[in-house]
Amino acid sequence: MSDFNILSGHWNELQHDAELIRRHVFIQEQNIPENEEWDDQDAISLHFVVYDQNQAIATARLLENNSIGRVAVLKSHRGLGIGKILMLNIIQQAAKEQRTALKLSAQVHAIPFYAGLGFAVQDGTEHLDCGIPHIDMTFSLKSA
Ligand code: COA
Repeated sequence: MSDFNILSGHWNELQHDAELIRRHVFIQEQNIPENEEWDDQDAISLHFVVYDQNQAIATARLLENNSIGRVAVLKSHRGLGIGKILMLNIIQQAAKEQRTALKLSAQVHAIPFYAGLGFAVQDGTEHLDCGIPHIDMTFSLKSA
């Protein structure tokens, strides 16, 4: 685990590496259309990229409205605790910024991943985003 390193920064600093991972995971693996993947939130979000040595292997973004999104770990690196390290780093950053709550729209298959981190399903209503079922989840930082 000690070989992993996490950088956070603005889109103009991390775009190259974050884009690489999101292309692999969302556009190629999950067939998300290119025009749905990139939006105006990228320019104003705080981005996170995890590196294994010099290779970018995971990413996510923290929006101004306290949403976490675009959480992606390269297929070759899943199940190693990297997604968890990434999310804990974002939660730590949000606490440092004195945010009081976080939210996200979880792909249904990833609910246990987020639940294990302390996120709770809001009302259980599923909605489709890019044809993929999602559920809203929240996390309170007051007790974190
Ligand atoms: N179902 C059940 N549990 C899961 C899970 C899943 N799909 N994915 C991870 N977990 C659990 C792990 O077992 C582990 O549990 P533990 O702490 O008790 O050992 C914990 O969550 C952390 O797992 P981790 O290895 O850190 O997860 P990961 O690095 O494989 O990343 C995702 C998880 C969801 C980010 C990764 O699978 C991914 O990138 N998927 C494709 C993109 C995607 O769907 N992103 C989510 C968009 S909402």
